[in-house]
Amino acid sequence: MKTAPIPHNRPQITDADQAAVASVLDSGWLAQGPRTLALEETFSNLMGGGEACALSSGTAALFLALKGLDLQPREVVAVPTYACSALLNAIHMAGGTPLPVDVRGTDFCLDPERLEETAGTARLAIAVHTFGASAPISSLARGGRQIIEDCCQSLGGPQGHAGAAAVFSFYATKIVTGGQGGLVWDAKGQVADAARDYRQFDCRPTYRPRFNLQMTDIQAAMILSQLDRLDAIRQRRRETAAFYDAAASELWNTGWRRQQGIDHAGHLPYRYVLVAPDWTQRKALAAAFAKAGISTIVPMETHELLHRYLGLPPETCPVAEDLSTRTLSLPLYPALTCEEVKRISAVLESFK
Ligand SMILES: Cc1ncc(COP(=O)(O)O)c(C=O)c1O
Repeated sequence: MKTAPIPHNRPQITDADQAAVASVLDSGWLAQGPRTLALEETFSNLMGGGEACALSSGTAALFLALKGLDLQPREVVAVPTYACSALLNAIHMAGGTPLPVDVRGTDFCLDPERLEETAGTARLAIAVHTFGASAPISSLARGGRQIIEDCCQSLGGPQGHAGAAAVFSFYATKIVTGGQGGLVWDAKGQVADAARDYRQFDCRPTYRPRFNLQMTDIQAAMILSQLDRLDAIRQRRRETAAFYDAAASELWNTGWRRQQGIDHAGHLPYRYVLVAPDWTQRKALAAAFAKAGISTIVPMETHELLHRYLGLPPETCPVAEDLSTRTLSLPLYPALTCEEVKRISAVLESFK
């Protein structure tokens, strides 16, 4: 019997999610409204206080966090080069100048030493908690630098509290999803307040440039429903990652390693990323998975590194360059069945 392919990602939509969306459709109020407000309140509770502003995407949240922190025209914002190009887009849209900085080979997060060397005077930096590992916010913030914590891949972990603001994404492949969606949170509420003013242009007493960056209540209802099971999502992802760790035990003796930092206490692993001894071994493992009908992805191709996109020389970010040639991401999501987890583990166990 032919086994069904296993995609790299697949959302988990439960009956409760469907009912939550259906009740919004029945209510006759589809746009930003009571469910969005409820999501903001739930999020503030999740973060232990502060204020949240729900938005149309994680990119919108980054853009409004930069504006809320008073980014000046052409001001430099340091970013990890091993990150999604949404960071560049948000900085450009807000009128700033992105400066990509190399990452650490261990957890793939922005390297405080490289930051000091490359962008020591930058007032602002965006630090991504890459694939669920914690970026070292207090070291990055040394000297009073303001850090936007990019939690688009780390919802439900300990991250988000140490910076000047935190941003989240609810895109279809994220930890919880509304199809699309984003949110900005800050402890003082100043950034969230500024975002709240900017996200909606209708019926304002006075004019200044604003935009439509709102979330719909349909999205908010689905996100709220998924947040209800965040603990179960965390537990399932952690168990699956531990299963892979055990299955890959032979690989650790042959030069393979795994991204560090996703299994620290309370962390919610977003991706399970292996680092191969070299490019050919990564290709061989990807081929073994493909043969078994299992999709893997290269989480960040070399040409996608942010310093490459900006035309900076490869030597400026050697660690990220190296990682981009050796990393491979395996399926890791709660919708995986036990059978599927076993099939993935079997490939890890038998790979030579
Ligand atoms: C680290 C990171 N930052 C920002 C974003 C942008 O989020 P969105 O796709 O919701 O605009 C994403 C997701 O794509 C991301 O992974």
